[in-house]
Amino acid sequence: MAATRNSILDDPFYQPADKFFPANNKIGLTFDDITLATLYSEILPRDTQLDTALAEKLRLHIPVISSDMDTVTESRMAIAMALNGGLGLIHYNMPERQQLSEVSRVKNHVHGLIQEPIQVSPEQLIGDVLAMIEQKKFAFGTFPVVDEKGKLVGLLSGHVVKPRYAKLKVATALTPRSQVQTILQKELGKDPIARADKFFTEHLGIHKLLVVDDKDKLCGLITLSDVERITLERAAQFKPARDANFHLICGAAVSATRNAFGELDKQRILEHVGGLVERGVDVVAVSTAHGHTKGVGDMVRVLRDAFPKLPIIAGNVTSAAGVEFLADCGADAIKVGQGPGSICTTRMVAGVGIPQMTALYVCSRAAAKKKVTILADGGITKSGDIVKALTLSQAVICGGIFAGCNEAPGDVVEISGKLYKQYRGMGSLAAMRTGSAARYGHEKNPAQKVAAEGIEALKEACGSVDRVLAQLIGGIQSGMGYLGAKNLEQLREKARYIRVSPAGMREAAPHDVVELKTGN
Ligand code: XMP
Repeated sequence: MAATRNSILDDPFYQPADKFFPANNKIGLTFDDITLATLYSEILPRDTQLDTALAEKLRLHIPVISSDMDTVTESRMAIAMALNGGLGLIHYNMPERQQLSEVSRVKNHVHGLIQEPIQVSPEQLIGDVLAMIEQKKFAFGTFPVVDEKGKLVGLLSGHVVKPRYAKLKVATALTPRSQVQTILQKELGKDPIARADKFFTEHLGIHKLLVVDDKDKLCGLITLSDVERITLERAAQFKPARDANFHLICGAAVSATRNAFGELDKQRILEHVGGLVERGVDVVAVSTAHGHTKGVGDMVRVLRDAFPKLPIIAGNVTSAAGVEFLADCGADAIKVGQGPGSICTTRMVAGVGIPQMTALYVCSRAAAKKKVTILADGGITKSGDIVKALTLSQAVICGGIFAGCNEAPGDVVEISGKLYKQYRGMGSLAAMRTGSAARYGHEKNPAQKVAAEGIEALKEACGSVDRVLAQLIGGIQSGMGYLGAKNLEQLREKARYIRVSPAGMREAAPHDVVELKTGN
């Protein structure tokens, strides 16, 4: 019979985590220091499952989280992550009230429902509408018409938005309210796209469905083309990550705010987290550079006592003791990573931090004992790193990989013909001045002497999160196929490792060729 099992000839070379890492305990290893050995497989990459549970009430369809950084995750990024089955952690370098509305935006996002459609008023001229289309470069020409109170008065069809009618008022050219098809917001139900899909099938030739409230105020627009695109996407393997009420899931980072006496400002923290919970936040992350501290422990305890069912992420740590401590304080998922990030200088500035694979191994063993999960935070530059990280963790947190995406905050800048977006460490001076100083144990006061633990940088603009995630997911699935792992649990069980020499590292990347096109 063909050999489908491990051979004892492989065993001395390719070792499971519990042999490999203790055997390498004199050296800190990171992603490029190791490689995974292949195993007999009957699993096709496309058949692998990437679902992961971070806490009892926090499940993702892909094990990828975008960092709580002010150049990575606000509502746009969090929406894109959740639509792809992952999670975005909204950063806290903004006023508390703004963070609440960022969370609301994600929780109220209805895929395909344009919540603030571009509208025109009956008093405008068609010429004004044409000028607006030209100026804003709209690719559409049909607009709902509303009065000054937001009440729907009709629909201006693209057929009449023509230069020959430029001098006519919108009021004379619109299709009147009585002939416009609408749906009440409350009738959209839990699955607005399915409802709209049914509507378009029943109403031949109608391509736009206006959503109104009980008072006939316009509150949204659904287009047939969006419904068709989304229906196609639904057949895709990775579904959006939603809560029990069909809302996209969303996380928010929370700061260990202190009062004038340097004590944890419990009242303010509880009020803010209470507001986040009211808006439906699915998880909060107590994000600090050093999680194995009294301050972070107190903060986690305060939150756990006040919100017994709220999933809590806490960190960052790189030791078993740190994991045990945060787990005992009440954290469900623990962030592992000190200094691996692409914009981090903690290891250089403070001389502290552990290479990521060693840190993940040590922490994963403590996490298993404490029945908590761990998140590999930072240092990930390619999908292969994610596969390696997932052999020891339940999900990865990435900043740099997403910072160049359209959905990351900030504008695109052009330098020498190339497009970039800003990416900065939350421990950079600029970010600390905007609010993240507490994360690094400093005061916000810029006059004070503080050592930055992060840099300000640029990332090449890289298009949409959908595109970037498609590449990453393809890579993860490919890795799982090589290991014969049909899900992430099997990946963790089956992984076997070997160290890589510097020559082996060079061999792993394209070499001795003139590269014409990158893999992507
Ligand atoms: P990547 O490698 O994905 O790392 O860009 C993102 C992670 O880095 C952490 N982070 C920092 N660490 N100084 C640090 O030492 C910083 O200024 C800083 N800012 C972010 C954070 O864990 C993030 O998820």
